[in-house]
Amino acid sequence: MEKSFKSIGVAEQLVRTATGIFLRTQTEELEISVLEDDLVRVTMRKSHPHAMTLPDSEIPSCAVVKRDLPGVNVKITESPLDINIITGKIRVHISRSPVRIGFYQLNGIPVCLDTAASGMGWMKDGPACFKTIPAGTRFYGFGERTGYLDKRGTTMTLWNTDTILHTPSTDSLYVSIPFFIGFCGNYAYGIFLDNPGKCVFDMGKTSSAEYMFQGTGEILDYYFFAGPEIKDVVEQYAKLTGTMELPPLWALGYHQSRYSYSPQDDVEDVARSFREHDIPCDAIYLDIHYMDGCRVFTFDQEAFPDPSGLIARLKSMGFKVVTIIDPGVKIDPKYKIYKDGLKKNCFVKLPDGNLFEAEVWPGQVVFPDFFKEKTRTWWAENHKILFDAGVQGIWNDMNEPSCFSTESGTMDLEALHGELGAEVSHAKIHNAYANYMNEATREAFRTLLPGTRPFMVTRAGYSGIQRLACVWTGDNASWWEHLLMSVPMCLNMGLSGLPFTGADVGGFLYDTDPELLTRWTQLGTFIPFFRNHSAVDTCRQEPYMLDEPYKSICRDFIKLRYRLIPYIYTMMHKAATSGTPIMRPLVFEFPEDPKTHGIFDQFMLGPDIMVAPVYQPETQCRTVYLPDGEWFDLYTGNVITGNRYILAESPLDRIPVFLKEGAVIPMGREMSFVGELQQVLKTIDICPSRNARSGRFSLYVDDGETEQYRAGSSP
Ligand code: GLC
Repeated sequence: MEKSFKSIGVAEQLVRTATGIFLRTQTEELEISVLEDDLVRVTMRKSHPHAMTLPDSEIPSCAVVKRDLPGVNVKITESPLDINIITGKIRVHISRSPVRIGFYQLNGIPVCLDTAASGMGWMKDGPACFKTIPAGTRFYGFGERTGYLDKRGTTMTLWNTDTILHTPSTDSLYVSIPFFIGFCGNYAYGIFLDNPGKCVFDMGKTSSAEYMFQGTGEILDYYFFAGPEIKDVVEQYAKLTGTMELPPLWALGYHQSRYSYSPQDDVEDVARSFREHDIPCDAIYLDIHYMDGCRVFTFDQEAFPDPSGLIARLKSMGFKVVTIIDPGVKIDPKYKIYKDGLKKNCFVKLPDGNLFEAEVWPGQVVFPDFFKEKTRTWWAENHKILFDAGVQGIWNDMNEPSCFSTESGTMDLEALHGELGAEVSHAKIHNAYANYMNEATREAFRTLLPGTRPFMVTRAGYSGIQRLACVWTGDNASWWEHLLMSVPMCLNMGLSGLPFTGADVGGFLYDTDPELLTRWTQLGTFIPFFRNHSAVDTCRQEPYMLDEPYKSICRDFIKLRYRLIPYIYTMMHKAATSGTPIMRPLVFEFPEDPKTHGIFDQFMLGPDIMVAPVYQPETQCRTVYLPDGEWFDLYTGNVITGNRYILAESPLDRIPVFLKEGAVIPMGREMSFVGELQQVLKTIDICPSRNARSGRFSLYVDDGETEQYRAGSSP
């Protein structure tokens, strides 16, 4: 990284504000506001000589929900050299010459410090900040990234991109979350750079002693989360940016997708086959071929002559239908959606007043400007055709937005978004495009299906997307490497505020094979979003297509998934109330054990279930690390003492799973789909041990489909 960097100047003027301080250098203004005892916002911009408080960011944040935090009482001390802001949990130290910020624990331990040489300032492409890396620090988070769990020593560009065939070294992917957790062994903190334009993070690659984050535009706007545990940081971030809403319970079942099931008889055939082969399944996805020439909000009259009838028949078998929606609207003067959008001025324009056009699946398209309220309302209304036909879930794809015909792969950076007179260039808000598209979908559910819980899946997103949709990791391949990679990807997403995630089980691109599909189905059983999806021209990969013993093994695991739903749903409720990830890296549960800090090929489902997926062919056993304590083998009940690596048996019909001592795991009934049978707890796995003197589990239950849960009622 080239360091063409101009550091912030010397503090010349200081004003105390209700929540902290405002100071001015010759060329910058800086505001430090304490929003909570453990949450501080830092904002720097170029000087506006007469303003004594910073105007809010030019672009309202779509990530932050807690804009109205009342602030907390802080103590501020000043000396000619420095200023200290003391909250109930931390001390923020600001030196005046040059201006540098340091966050300290109240006992004086430094947590996160600007580098002496650089601190905050300006790179060629935008505002930036340099901070020190104490020895032993690890960096987790950053949303959807390939590679392993710890991102130390890497650089990352956060810019939503439709990246086909990603590898461990791929940089930008579909979702950008400029948030990370710095974990230093005995404490953790977090930083969220709220900037929906391009963000760059250099986490000790250029210099192992410092990291740098840089945004786009004229304002550096970041939040510091004081931890001190990883769990605390994740919850603090969730408090600021919001938590997921509870989806309908069926969202936790097994889902089957393919690009594409068409014509409609094929869809029915898939549904019937699941029931005939006694493999549970809750949802079937319709990919782009259900539409008339990929025109959104239409059905292909020939392939899908009777969508309502089809969906009703599927419903009677317990299936829900989820349809794909892409943002691009085909340019076709005879097409109603295109004509309406034009008339209502809903499409994105270039600075010269022309519409921005590009090629996507339908051919040449224009793009809705979801940053306008009226576009979102119009888009929402268009869902009527789908909801009237009985569709119950919406899958928002290609919403980076992806453009096949532009060199950048996305929209023109100069394209304009937002209301007339307050337009913002695409470059500044690219990563938020999907959030606003999902807002529109959310409005569709709220207005057209009031009282029901929305089920939405999205490919792209920016911080805050967790409030709207579940994220899947895009176009992976039927490779063992991608099975493995999906684990740290989902773990880091969970640490980045996105608890409801999953990868295409079986792999999307290329042909899967029976063993890979079986192993992936075993893993999917323990992943929050459990969907099998595959690309056009690849071999069919529905589990019932498999020969024995693969088919029976997949069936057994999918059935196990249904038995685990009460447990997983309870974790989901926790995620919805406090942001705690459902699927957690070992370091999240066992931070005091250094051996866990880098483990990415095992994970915890909630606090009690340790899962060690098999990610190589012909594996009969694999190494598993068991932290201190006693562990119960899920299959045999054998008790194994931890604080060591073990070689766990993993024949084809077994993925190593261990229950933590003290665990109380409620197991529900097997069923073909959620709601087929009244849920009752069939068994409760209790794992007593010498050490765990008590164990408890508070099961969360509600009706699983309405919004009544918000009022706190349970059936
Ligand atoms: C994109 C999606 C994929 C989908 C395909 C066709 O590649 O990521 O899941 O099947 O488009 O719609």
